[in-house]
Amino acid sequence: MADGGVKVLWLLHGANLDMLGRRDPALYGSETLTQLERRVTRHAESRGFEVRTFQTNFEGEFIEQLHEVAVGGGDAVIVNPGAWTHYSYAIRDALELVPCPVAEVHLSAIAEREEWRRTSVIADLAAVRVFGKGIDGYLEAVDRLAELLAAGQGDDNDGR
Ligand code: DQA
Repeated sequence: MADGGVKVLWLLHGANLDMLGRRDPALYGSETLTQLERRVTRHAESRGFEVRTFQTNFEGEFIEQLHEVAVGGGDAVIVNPGAWTHYSYAIRDALELVPCPVAEVHLSAIAEREEWRRTSVIADLAAVRVFGKGIDGYLEAVDRLAELLAAGQGDDNDGR
């Protein structure tokens, strides 16, 4: 936990999510990643979180960021790994090192799209899963993570 009892929430985005605003708006909405991060940050701050954001298109960098969260600390994580969700066991292994509650969020309804998107190799590591609700899904994830932490379920992975 950061100084003063503020809870640190990591908002981690993977491949191609820096292109929000240019990707198919029917699936991903028309807001940019910066706009998404601003909305989520504003909401999370109202729930007592300090937000740290990160995005990369490089799998190794994403893994190293997860290591930093695992070692450096944090109280909750929202992760949208993009297409890595569906096949990256390396990201799954790194996420397994993260001791705080994790929310897996997808803008689009992955369960209703192509067959290959229905698999998430991180699903069982997530205490919270939200998809198909656009940016509102992130706000819901913030609320559910805040509730988990308030209920004391965030300390030792028993929210998983
Ligand atoms: C996504 C869904 C993934 O299947 C896709 O590869 C993405 C975005 C989403 O937020 O809906 O890049 O994670």
